Amino acid sequence: MTMSGGLALKSTPAPIVACTIARDVQTFDLLIDDIEAELGEAWGDLNFLEAQAFLVQPEADDLEFVAIAVDDEDEPDIELLLRVIELAKARSVKVILIAEDVSPPTLHRLLNAGADDFVPYPLPERAFHQSLERIRAGNTLTAGQADAAAPAQAQAPQTAAPIKPATTGRGDRVIFAVQSMAGGTGATTLATNLAWELATIDKKASPSVCLIDLDLQFGSVSTYLDLTRRDVVFEVLSEAQNMDVDAFKQALQSYDGKLSVFTAPSEILPLDIVGPEEVGALLDFAQSCFDIVVVDMPSTIVQWTETVLNRSDVYFATLELDMRSAQNTLRFIKALQAEDLPLDKVHYVLNRAPRGLDMGGKARVKRLAESLGITLNTQLPDGTRQVTQTCDHGVPLAEMARKNPLRKDIAKLAKTLHEAIKAEAAAS
Ligand SMILES: Nc1ncnc2c1ncn2[C@@H]1O[C@H](COP(=O)(O)OP(=O)(O)OP(=O)(O)O)[C@@H](O)[C@H]1O
Ligand SMILES: [Mg+2]
Repeated sequence: MTMSGGLALKSTPAPIVACTIARDVQTFDLLIDDIEAELGEAWGDLNFLEAQAFLVQPEADDLEFVAIAVDDEDEPDIELLLRVIELAKARSVKVILIAEDVSPPTLHRLLNAGADDFVPYPLPERAFHQSLERIRAGNTLTAGQADAAAPAQAQAPQTAAPIKPATTGRGDRVIFAVQSMAGGTGATTLATNLAWELATIDKKASPSVCLIDLDLQFGSVSTYLDLTRRDVVFEVLSEAQNMDVDAFKQALQSYDGKLSVFTAPSEILPLDIVGPEEVGALLDFAQSCFDIVVVDMPSTIVQWTETVLNRSDVYFATLELDMRSAQNTLRFIKALQAEDLPLDKVHYVLNRAPRGLDMGGKARVKRLAESLGITLNTQLPDGTRQVTQTCDHGVPLAEMARKNPLRKDIAKLAKTLHEAIKAEAAAS
């Protein structure tokens, strides 16, 4: 099947109606879960200094509430915390205070500064929900306050629109490829983790997934999944047309019994050691054995880029918000146009995208998309050093950094794709 045309992988960011304020929100992961359950994507996170800067801007008026999370390590910064609460109050933004191990005098000062509600951390079951109900009930006291709260509640979190695939008669078998527009923009991280999320998406009925590393020279899939590069890979690659599917299967390695991986060869080889025929044969093998094939491509355009692009259902192109990515993406688009290749299969992924409340960043994203004439509907957050550490550790993010924001967004993307595949299969 082909997910053609608009590739409607639209995940338009929901308007931000609340935000967490904490030294590092990752240390309050129960809060992340709870606020996500209440608001979906419609919230941002700020540290105290960012909050201080944000709360004096007019955009802050759009917030319904802030959830300020503090623990004993924040006590030396009490003056800053008090200022943030005052600024929020000055804007009529409700304040929920969440505190862990904070001394009674500090707690007293924070509550006196005007916090509307208080919940201890770790959050008891439903405590955050109830706190939200309390502050919302408070909002109905005056007509003006009720009006201010209403729009925030009406904005339900937006979910990704379904992909509208068009069948080309291959049933529910799909190929996703990922290419980096500029080295290091996260193609391999996306390919590896997307493959893993798809392979583990359903306890009982996950699709079978094969991850193929075609970044023949510097492929890092084997590093990110701690697999050895085997010599047999080279033979299968260079002789793919004359081999049978068993040879292909023998070259595969399994990650945790759930994901099959065809790594890059052990030696650095010229990229033209394989051509379109070999790559085509390799994809045939993979598709005959697996529901989903994920291909990690080299960041350069090669002879067989066209082969993979034509065979792909979605061709993800990763880029970042910088000049190097912008210029390379433009060259990539021009090269595809010159060859009349199916640009509509290319789905751009902005990695390390600016966060929800970074207005300047958002404006730059808009300008980048406009100048390239592309849409940037899929934006992945910076997952900080935890991502590199997990990659270096040779495990998928889901294994070591389940709550990492990058992992969560890749998991969401996998879900969207999986649902589209199922819908397509049901329709055909
Ligand atoms: N969203 C992110 N947040 C934090 N770190 C990231 C993110 N995306 C990628 N990284 C890190 O950036 C580095 C480069 O990522 P990756 O290898 O996926 O890029 P690539 O585009 O495949 O690069 P190459 O062009 O070398 O193949 C890795 O160390 C990875 O862990
Ligand atoms: Mg790579």
